[in-house]
Amino acid sequence: MKKITMTDADTVRFTGITAKIKFFSSMSMALLEKILAWVTLCEYGKGEKICSQGDPGDAFYAIESGAVSVKVKRGFLPFPKKMADLGPGDFFGEMALLSRQPRNATVTCEEPTRVFVLLADHFEAAAKENPKFAEEIRKLSDERKLELGHK
Ligand code: CMP
Repeated sequence: MKKITMTDADTVRFTGITAKIKFFSSMSMALLEKILAWVTLCEYGKGEKICSQGDPGDAFYAIESGAVSVKVKRGFLPFPKKMADLGPGDFFGEMALLSRQPRNATVTCEEPTRVFVLLADHFEAAAKENPKFAEEIRKLSDERKLELGHK
């Protein structure tokens, strides 16, 4: 994993991507500006894990570019089960932060991937300041939880 210094072009890209990411699109410009100061941009290589099932949740991720897979390992089954493929504009890592439980799945880069990273405290602050966002993200987290139970 490589931490990238955000250039003006990245900032512009972040602003552009916020319009597409549900997570950010309901936020006011003032809150987005605040979040921009909190956010870091990280680059991962193909095959690198961004987060692992069972780890404590410390951050939230929104994909700027690339592709990741979400896989869950259950009980004694030898192979993990793929739950989803996520790409630019998608986000992950919200479940452990909302539930304060360990990570539900392992997220691995299927190609070089750049993610905007928001640490847990900042994620919480953003949710507190924007109830509509908090509600949307909780809804998606509940849907993912159901899928985890079913698949
Ligand atoms: P978290 O449990 O914090 O870390 C792993 C992440 O994988 C999880 O949050 C979700 O963001 C994501 N995830 C889990 N299940 C699914 C699913 N069914 N579809 C998409 N993403 C998922």
